[in-house]
Amino acid sequence: MKSVILIGFMGSGKSTVGSRLAKRLGYKFIDTDCAIEDVTGLTVERIFSKYGVKRFRGEEALLVTKLAGKDNLVISTGGGLVLSEENVRLLTTNGVFVSLRATADTIMKRVRNKRTRPLLAKGNLRETVTSLLEQRKEAYGIAELTIDVDQLTPEQIVDIIYKYLKEREYI
Ligand code: S3P
Repeated sequence: MKSVILIGFMGSGKSTVGSRLAKRLGYKFIDTDCAIEDVTGLTVERIFSKYGVKRFRGEEALLVTKLAGKDNLVISTGGGLVLSEENVRLLTTNGVFVSLRATADTIMKRVRNKRTRPLLAKGNLRETVTSLLEQRKEAYGIAELTIDVDQLTPEQIVDIIYKYLKEREYI
């Protein structure tokens, strides 16, 4: 069966929801940030500070070439992975995109540990979040299912995705 690809901004709950959804579906769970950390032996934070954002995006692109076309995965993507059209194109071949959408307020509450999210580490947090959300609206808009997550628990989100996949006969 097609893989499920969770997209959305930092702090929208992709990793928590993804691991629970994978359990529900009996699929393998992959968190792209963790996979990149495993492959490089470096934390995301370290990749950014030592080599910069380009290198990180390069690692994401390489990982996507390995995951594209595979069945039965739940992939939680880093918030910037779908900014690359090529990543989207490759993952579309065998994937269903689901977007978790959170408001700036929710994101602000959740990204407590800014240090592990280099893109949010500098400047005014609210301004950065608001401006990145605006810039990325279109990129996250490619999903065939978008869920407003602010008022929902991870279990409720998993239920919504599960129901959607069943209805569309993806599972
Ligand atoms: C990023 C999001 C992070 C991580 C990196 C860049 C982004 O992942 O990939 O810090 O560009 O939005 P999460 O969305 O899992 O926090």
